[in-house]
Amino acid sequence: MIGAQWGDEGKGKITDLLSRSADVVVRPQGGVNAGHTIVVKGQTFKLHLIPSGILYPDTECIIGSGTVIDPKILLQEFDQLERLNVSADNLFISQTAHVTMPYHRLIDQASEEQRGKHKIGTTGRGIGPTYADKSERTGIRVVDLMDADTLRKRLTWAINYNNVILEKLYNLAPLDPEEVIKEYQVYADRLRPHVIDSSLKIYDAIQHRKNILFEGAQGTLLDLDHGTYPYVTSSNPIAGGACVGSGIGPTMIDRVIGVAKAYTTRVGEGPFPTELDGELNQILCDRGAEFGTTTGRRRRCGWFDGVIGRYAVRINGLDCLAITKLDVLDELDEIKVCVAYELDGKTCDHFPGNASEFARCKPIYKTLPGWKTSTEECRLLEDLPKQALDYLKFLAELMAVPIAIISLGASRDQTIIVEDPIHGPKRALLDANGSPVLSST
Ligand code: GDP
Ligand code: IMO
Ligand code: MG
Repeated sequence: MIGAQWGDEGKGKITDLLSRSADVVVRPQGGVNAGHTIVVKGQTFKLHLIPSGILYPDTECIIGSGTVIDPKILLQEFDQLERLNVSADNLFISQTAHVTMPYHRLIDQASEEQRGKHKIGTTGRGIGPTYADKSERTGIRVVDLMDADTLRKRLTWAINYNNVILEKLYNLAPLDPEEVIKEYQVYADRLRPHVIDSSLKIYDAIQHRKNILFEGAQGTLLDLDHGTYPYVTSSNPIAGGACVGSGIGPTMIDRVIGVAKAYTTRVGEGPFPTELDGELNQILCDRGAEFGTTTGRRRRCGWFDGVIGRYAVRINGLDCLAITKLDVLDELDEIKVCVAYELDGKTCDHFPGNASEFARCKPIYKTLPGWKTSTEECRLLEDLPKQALDYLKFLAELMAVPIAIISLGASRDQTIIVEDPIHGPKRALLDANGSPVLSST
């Protein structure tokens, strides 16, 4: 299950919902830049690293090897769950995931400041520098954290190296290796019982025919290779990233589910063709409570972008979509959908990988009527107002992908399951001609 836009599509809610039928939930990539919100019986859970399947006591949750782990924040999540009486006994952490260190956070924040108006708008959580060290082969992995001698050796070297950067490049105070080692040894002791060979555990679950849900973080357009570079994150949130980040082969993935909002949001810098300003932006932001789960930043809001949607279908090989936050559009007179771009006087119906071309793209809209009535209590397709159903059908046709789930509120029950995306027949949402349909027959 992956985000089909720029993140914050409601992946937490959909993972929680699908976890009912999952034996194992794996988070393959990303770090504490993610913020996944789950609302159950009026109680809100905000998770950064722990997979959103954790609320089910029999579901095993795995933080995979493609993630980067900030142990301090992860342990705060443990504490949060404990306060809410949720057990973390079923949580496992890959031994080969990389660990975010205090210098990663400092360098992330300082480099953003130095970029000035060219900043990326990162979450400031040290994600880019942690992945950079992984690629540079100077990173510290969970397995290193578990061994006091290795930790001391690698961390002393890394801190001395990064202190030069902190002092000379950013004019910041150096870190004391002994202090950091002491701090991280405390984290290591608490995390130790959860550390495993995650690829082996996932493979074993596959061999036992268990249902495994891979919960992507971030979204397709934030993908390091295929997103709106350089305004992206430093991992691969697309479906292909789930294999790399979990240590399993692509033949072991049966279905790919994309999550998209009924409109679009983006947090941080970078081009966003359908972005709105003025009153409409305010309405979407207010009704959708569009403030970042991790940083509290206001999210930029805009109309649904069908070009991005088609791109997400292609790049992830989506089988179906979950459309969230349809209720946010309830009061609008009319709703626009971007069907193509105008690029330098020509129509462009695909996402241009070239960043400067994408920045010049202007949306071409199709306007649809609003439904002007609440959808929050709808539980079946038949309950939806006709205009809302037409809107969803239009999106499905535009992207040539079936919509399997419709979300109409933050709670678990505010959902229409058109077709069970895990157990239902794979092509159930296509008609005899292979066109996407919305009726579950
Ligand atoms: P994620 O990062 O993809 O998990 O999404 P976030 O949790 O960062 O942001 C989605 C926000 O929308 C959260 O506050 C959810 O509780 C909320 N949400 C999810 N689905 C719906 C929905 O269908 N309607 C409304 N109104 N809110 C929703
Ligand atoms: P979830 O999983 C939305 C964005 C940041 C910034 C860019 C790079 O909740 O959907 P980073 O800190 O990763 O180096 O920042 O990526 N970003 C997200 N935007 N949702 C997220 O996660 C995000 N994680 C990172 O705002 O633009
Ligand atoms: Mg989020």
